[in-house]
Amino acid sequence: MKNHTSDITQTALVVGANGVIGSNLIAHLSALGNWNIIGLSRRGGVSSPNISYIAVDLLSKENTLQQLGSLSAVTHIFYAAYQDKPTWAQLVEPNLTMLVNVVDAIESIAPNLQHISLMQGYKVYGAHLGPFKTPAKESDAGHMPPEFNVDQQNFLEQRQQGKNWSWSAIRPSVVGGTALGNPMNLVLLIAVYASISKELGIPLRFPGKPGAYDKLMEMTDAGLLAKATVWAATSRNCANQAFNINNGDLFRWNEMWPKIARFFDMETAPPLQMPLQTVMADKAQVWEKIQEKYGLEKHPYEQLSYWGFGDFVFSWDYDFFADGSKARRFGFHEYADTEQMFMDLFTDLRNRKIIP
Ligand SMILES: NC(=O)c1ccc[n+]([C@@H]2O[C@H](COP(=O)([O-])OP(=O)(O)OC[C@H]3O[C@@H](n4cnc5c(N)ncnc54)[C@H](OP(=O)(O)O)[C@@H]3O)[C@@H](O)[C@H]2O)c1
Repeated sequence: MKNHTSDITQTALVVGANGVIGSNLIAHLSALGNWNIIGLSRRGGVSSPNISYIAVDLLSKENTLQQLGSLSAVTHIFYAAYQDKPTWAQLVEPNLTMLVNVVDAIESIAPNLQHISLMQGYKVYGAHLGPFKTPAKESDAGHMPPEFNVDQQNFLEQRQQGKNWSWSAIRPSVVGGTALGNPMNLVLLIAVYASISKELGIPLRFPGKPGAYDKLMEMTDAGLLAKATVWAATSRNCANQAFNINNGDLFRWNEMWPKIARFFDMETAPPLQMPLQTVMADKAQVWEKIQEKYGLEKHPYEQLSYWGFGDFVFSWDYDFFADGSKARRFGFHEYADTEQMFMDLFTDLRNRKIIP
């Protein structure tokens, strides 16, 4: 790996480099200009002077040790890899294994390791199980396992005992970003759903549970999240702490949905609950027609639309938000306007010819 300037002393290992979260982290670290960056994922990537991509299967201990064996310069690990599985219990084993494999590989060879940042989410608060206490606070009581985020944090807390490095845990709400080929990308999912609805000449209907339309909701912009993650990883007072990171405003789909429709120049109609995983399963041909008609990039339909995630998010007929004041008390004061975030991300997808 090359040092693009001689005064760079920090090396970030971004684990999950192509993710909705990891790709924005790399963009932010790169813009800061004072980091060497190494990105890990199975797909790898095209390296540039200050970013090296390494293809590795973190589920394999052997492959991880082999591919990471020379990364002795790493000072910060930003862990944002994720393996999707059908049940909450099944998420634990692969997601814990990947984290353990990375820490095992790096800790023994990187003498200047300073920090391990762990990307979590509101599952720590049981948000995926049903109505949970809102606003959720970092100090809230735990819930019945299994839950992979909790196991990952427990592992880091134990491993850190007596070490020179520290950890932080970052807890975003649903993340808004524009990476492709990821199971949890709500903005892209809504954009594809809207484009197909428009092509079929039907209004933009909220497809979730009736009660989900008017509950309080919040999101986390991936760019804001990247800033907060680096801030927590490099601020002494954040050592061994967890932080909720959200945009700082709340919304209800009943107000946001018509604004989204307006962006796509569409009408809305009353919500109609429908499982996206079922009703969108046969729409690949419509999508191909849209791609042809508007000269879009030829990304495969199945890479743009993990409909199960939409069914999950739109089923939350309970308030879904956390208290973001701890991060502010510790010194992170940035925020994002969620409506603007949607419009900016849709515009970005349009400019990149991913949606019409
Ligand atoms: N997205 C959200 O809305 C959201 C919200 C709250 C919390 N979170 C949490 O944030 C974390 C990251 O989520 P995300 O949505 O950014 O995930 P993502 O978009 O699915 O990205 C996951 C990353 O992990 C890599 N990866 C997966 N399996 C791998 C393996 N075996 N070896 C090496 N790399 C592997 C993937 O790249 P390859 O496929 O190329 O390997 C990808 O770069 C998760 O813990 C998630 O629960 C996400």
